[in-house]
Amino acid sequence: MKTKAFSGRLAAWALSALALSACSQQQGGAEGDKGAAAGTKGVAAGDKGAAGDKGGKAGGAKIALLLPESKTARYESKDRPFFEAKVKALCPDCQILASNANQDASQQQAQAEAALTNGASVLVLDAVDSASAAVIANKAKAQKVPVIAYDRLVPGTDAIDYYVSFDNEAVGRLQGESLLKALGNKPTARVVMINGAATDNNGLTFKKGAHSALDGKVQVVKEYDTPDWSPDKAQDQMTQALTALNNQVDGVYAANDGTAGGAIAAMKAAGIKPLPPVTGQDAELAAVQRILLGEQYMTVYKAIKPQAEAAAVIAYHLATGKPVPTDITGGKTVNNGTKEVPSVLLVPLAVTKENLKDTVIADAFWTQEQICTAQYAEACKAAGL
Ligand code: BGC
Repeated sequence: MKTKAFSGRLAAWALSALALSACSQQQGGAEGDKGAAAGTKGVAAGDKGAAGDKGGKAGGAKIALLLPESKTARYESKDRPFFEAKVKALCPDCQILASNANQDASQQQAQAEAALTNGASVLVLDAVDSASAAVIANKAKAQKVPVIAYDRLVPGTDAIDYYVSFDNEAVGRLQGESLLKALGNKPTARVVMINGAATDNNGLTFKKGAHSALDGKVQVVKEYDTPDWSPDKAQDQMTQALTALNNQVDGVYAANDGTAGGAIAAMKAAGIKPLPPVTGQDAELAAVQRILLGEQYMTVYKAIKPQAEAAAVIAYHLATGKPVPTDITGGKTVNNGTKEVPSVLLVPLAVTKENLKDTVIADAFWTQEQICTAQYAEACKAAGL
């Protein structure tokens, strides 16, 4: 029930974002864009208006998309294609300068500088490292180029114009609460925490949310931050924990599906059977399949399409000098320690075997065919898929 409402809300939001963007194109971006109804009617015309827009910077405006890494599947398989498709739909003449820094902060700095040199009129920045990202944002600001913090907030700079993400503390809370449930709320349960990267503001926020659910309710017997979110480093950390704990582990908090995969590989190598409940995030295909096999307990589903599309709508308006429709943030802001950043924050959802069908599959994030390949046919059948 709840999941249907969730999908419905997302769809409604995505539609209204589309309508609003069309509305502002049509009206030349009149402040406020109050007319949601008029905007809905004007979608087709508005989109045409964007395509045919020869004036101003619209023709050939350059939009830089700076992604952080490729060990996590989402960036190249979801974020980038959804973002590109939305920009192309709004502005066929716009050019997207997309890059991936492969976990390397200095590479991201070089990619951002190249984008600025090549005439990018907006940066959509998914930061590898908070501190270096602040330097990038300040450079962009000095050149009057606005910056959208995409997925990861960049603290400590006033050069961030928008933030488009999920409620990341809620992500950590959902993970912690699911783990508690799987452990049967047992205060003596021994939990290993494999957090994300401490250089990513999200890594810290997920950790805060998870602790708010777990502290005092279980024993956190080992805890690690995972440099660069690397699954292989997570695996090493889990191996260390198992050695130190004599394999006595009742549950594993893993901050995302990549680190969950690393932790599970370490436990399998140590011969642990049955595997204890393990959390995750991203609804990666491999994780969804592990959930069906009973190797991973849960993941957090974040519908990336509305996230990428919201960033594309904002980027398009900024790049072409049009006012960003105010309704896209609905007045919401997030404080990055320096300023209140206008923000789009989407709602994450906990996913286990029980609601896989109503969430990930219902949204076509992955189709049943993609999930239930020959190797998983039996597990799919048992789960009613
Ligand atoms: C993102 C997660 C992702 C992780 C590793 C976080 O900032 O929110 O979705 O799994 O980075 O790339």
